[in-house]
Amino acid sequence: KKKTMILGIETSCDETAAAVVENGTVIRSNAVASQIDIHRRFGGVVPEVASRHHVDQITLVCEEAMNNSGISWDDLDAIAVTQGPGLIGALLVGVNGAKALAYAHQVPLVPVHHITGHIYANRFVQELEFPLIALVVSGGHTELVHMKEHGSYEVIGTTRDDAAGEAFDKVARTIGLPYPGGPEIDKLAKGGQPTINFPRAWLEEGSLDFSFSGLKSAVINYIHNEQQRGHELNHADIAASFQESVSEVLVKKTMIAAERVHAKQILVAGGVSANSKVRSEMERAANTRGIPLSIPPLSLCTDNAAMIAASGTIGFLKGMRADLSLNGKANLAI
Ligand code: KG4
Ligand code: ZN
Repeated sequence: KKKTMILGIETSCDETAAAVVENGTVIRSNAVASQIDIHRRFGGVVPEVASRHHVDQITLVCEEAMNNSGISWDDLDAIAVTQGPGLIGALLVGVNGAKALAYAHQVPLVPVHHITGHIYANRFVQELEFPLIALVVSGGHTELVHMKEHGSYEVIGTTRDDAAGEAFDKVARTIGLPYPGGPEIDKLAKGGQPTINFPRAWLEEGSLDFSFSGLKSAVINYIHNEQQRGHELNHADIAASFQESVSEVLVKKTMIAAERVHAKQILVAGGVSANSKVRSEMERAANTRGIPLSIPPLSLCTDNAAMIAASGTIGFLKGMRADLSLNGKANLAI
């Protein structure tokens, strides 16, 4: 049987990435040019700066992915590209790069939703078992997705305000930690205790939605109040307490969702799934309930193009195609 070879391209935020994936499950190459060091001095991603760096990097990164894949352009079945959601200027660089390559090499173009990419990062770890619940937690998203089969997505919970990663980044900034704040909070929390009782937003009975803006404000208010009273702040305890609050809500709601749909598998994906507390608590809760859990290795939790190629493989096999009028969409529905 012929292998399906897909080149994935991802530029929705601050990583310019391209990867070649075989049969949706084997990474042949995975090139990422990260802009984190460039945006750090601004304390966050500056959209216009991101677009310019994507333009600089896109051709090099695609060439690197092809060169390291061991296949030639003729072996390629399709090019899969992140269509959205994300920063529009950033998305356009990937979409136009993909269109140019698809036209030049006469291969089909497959549009991919970024969230489905994060979910499919798990397929490099193990085969998906349906029905499943996927929690996608990143700097831009906090979503619970119910999947009954490959390529079918039902969002059953989402954030009403900030994404979990956004809360990590803002709290980190308040403590004076560099961007991106998630990994910094994670490190700092290891030396602290969750002694401060920050709020957990459960919302209405039975709701699978999330809200993190109240927690973020509570942490910021706590810091200001303590400073006003002249108390010395224990940053490690603040980080541990904040992290515990986020992780408790993420884990409980994911378990409720999994039990509700009788999930055969729980997937966690997106940048925040790199968090050590989220990983260990999720493992514990899934074990207790006897539901198999999959979380990608750290390198595949954050934005990359292998995951886009993996999701694009499913789209390709289902006959999804885009023509050269394909456009990036900042707010794309799943
Ligand atoms: O998936 P991703 O690379 O990009 C988006 O699609 O947003 O996620 C980036 C987010 C950032 O908010 C970053 O702070 C967070 O993931 N993150 C973490 C950790 N590593 C990355 N948050 C908590 N703990 C971590 N270890
Ligand atoms: Zn992402």
